[in-house]
Amino acid sequence: MTTRILDLLHDPGLPRLEARMLLEHVLRQPRAWLLAHDTDAMPAAAETAYRALAARRRAGEPMAYLLGEREFMGHVFRVTPDVLIPRPDTELLAETAIALLADRAGGAMVDLGTGSGAIAVSVALACPQADVSATDCSPAALAVAAGNAARLGARVRTLHGDWYGALPPGERYDLIVSNPPYIASGDPHLGQGDLRHEPRGALTDGADGLSALARIVQGAPARLRPGGALWLEHGWDQAQAVRGLLARAGFRGVESRRDLAGIERISGGNL
Ligand SMILES: C[S@@+](CC[C@H](N)C(=O)[O-])C[C@H]1O[C@@H](n2cnc3c(N)ncnc32)[C@H](O)[C@@H]1O
Repeated sequence: MTTRILDLLHDPGLPRLEARMLLEHVLRQPRAWLLAHDTDAMPAAAETAYRALAARRRAGEPMAYLLGEREFMGHVFRVTPDVLIPRPDTELLAETAIALLADRAGGAMVDLGTGSGAIAVSVALACPQADVSATDCSPAALAVAAGNAARLGARVRTLHGDWYGALPPGERYDLIVSNPPYIASGDPHLGQGDLRHEPRGALTDGADGLSALARIVQGAPARLRPGGALWLEHGWDQAQAVRGLLARAGFRGVESRRDLAGIERISGGNL
């Protein structure tokens, strides 16, 4: 019996939105085409591809890995299981960086732990005069970030290494940003939902959740130019602790900013 597009759109095993996104993906057609052609017969190869992806989705794999992409700051980033799936919450950190660099023509920024390159690439596209660098300890993640920068036409230098160890000796920046792993190793969320499929080293510091944040704060003064700023994304309950780290490291104007859900999501200050 012939399978129609419509039959798969109403796949009882998947939410309708997810079935539609997977069909758009395997048919390489936009939503409007799909709706206008929903009584067409599904091509056999596309049906096989759809059924394989639907089975993986039912087994819990994140949509972003199945589709191979996720939108961030209006740009489509390629994502693989080597990188954290960029979160809408992280747009607050990218927007903050863009606003700070807009005031410093030709400013230099580094994004520590860049993953897919979501922050660094978005900032480089919004501030083409800025010198943007991006680091990661995962060579596979850096390859994804470099690929995204090239595909989206962003000027981003990628550097491999452990936090500040990735940076050329003596180099200083006007702005350091980071969304480091900040989930405590014992947090039960690590065993739930999409997190089960994301790189563990992108999610948890393997300790209390604050150790990577503390290392980045403590190393920042030696890497910032006078008046330079550090901004960090952190967990919903870590803002006070991060403000404390920043104040103790000598930062001034320390503050936290809330995401769209009203949660203190990022904290920063300047030297
Ligand atoms: C939470 S993910 C953030 C990814 C991306 N910046 C974003 O916001 O979507 C943290 C990233 O930090 C990287 N990372 C973890 N430990 C690191 C270390 N010691 N040095 C450099 N990068 C590290 C991980 O590989 C991962 O890509």
